[in-house]
Amino acid sequence: MFENRKIAFIGPGAMAEAMIAGLIRREVARPEMLIASGPRRERVDELHSRYGVQPYDDNAAAAGAAEVVVLSVKPQRLDAVLAGMRGAIQPEALVLSIVAGAPIAKIAGFLNHNAVVRAMPNTPAQIGEGISVWTAAPVVSDDQREMARQILAALGDEIFLEEENYLNMATALSGTGPAYVFLFMEAMVDAGVHLGFPRRVAEQLVAQTVRGSVDFYTQSKDAPHLAHLRNQVTSPGGTSAAALYYLEKAGFRTAISRAIWAAYERSRELGRDAKAHWPEQVSGGEEI
Ligand SMILES: NC(=O)c1ccc[n+]([C@@H]2O[C@H](COP(=O)([O-])OP(=O)(O)OC[C@H]3O[C@@H](n4cnc5c(N)ncnc54)[C@H](OP(=O)(O)O)[C@@H]3O)[C@@H](O)[C@H]2O)c1
Repeated sequence: MFENRKIAFIGPGAMAEAMIAGLIRREVARPEMLIASGPRRERVDELHSRYGVQPYDDNAAAAGAAEVVVLSVKPQRLDAVLAGMRGAIQPEALVLSIVAGAPIAKIAGFLNHNAVVRAMPNTPAQIGEGISVWTAAPVVSDDQREMARQILAALGDEIFLEEENYLNMATALSGTGPAYVFLFMEAMVDAGVHLGFPRRVAEQLVAQTVRGSVDFYTQSKDAPHLAHLRNQVTSPGGTSAAALYYLEKAGFRTAISRAIWAAYERSRELGRDAKAHWPEQVSGGEEI
């Protein structure tokens, strides 16, 4: 699919590198078809020597040379980066944004280009174990959707959803999700140290417990309910029952639920703030 089509990464950071590495590893695209553009020459040269991608320090030139333009800058840089690329994107090109909180309409408005896909990956993408939720503006063609799917598949699993609001939900659940998991694991490790384990041993016990539990859940036949698996470890009057009593009493479930809802609301707020900064409507006042 990317035999003769170039993919330009605008913002050559951690996520761009994860995508570049995945695309090359899975032989979806050859290195010479990939472009990395950013303000620091050392960084794009580093990606060139590591993967053989073409280094650019001019976003507009990089975007103009590609059939797919991946926006992978930090949200606070996005406005300036979009303004600098206005008019540079090829009419038939696809813009694929992974920028958290940036609505499709904002990107399309700034670039005056309607073929935009918005995706929310997560950090395990850096080892090809991520999950991305994505959506597309109605004008994005089937061929362009397939290109987006293949690029996101280089990061791990991908799920297409029609409505853009799911992107805010995905930001709260899977995009931010690794933060909850790492906090939970950190608390378990600290508890292990409190009990008397050397930290290294506590870390190993926790990491393998989490990994093994996830594999047990996902590899179990007939998709058991999570409560069923939890009940299997909870014998009457036993240690799990004592521990779970404390977690419920401390409002563990409610805290998780409220935290994820707060992340969802924050993601929506960021999107609304962004709307206030649109330079103008999408051409023709079109709704996307
Ligand atoms: N990390 C994640 O798990 C994750 C998950 C979901 C979505 N995202 C989204 O992915 C995007 C990138 O995240 P990241 O973790 O890869 O961040 P990052 O490592 O900081 O990468 C951002 C890159 O953009 C470059 N940059 C800065 N100004 C630029 C400009 N004017 N033109 C072009 N490039 C510019 C930076 O260069 P310098 O280093 O020289 O400043 C850096 O290489 C963010 O919008 C984030 O919301 C990330």
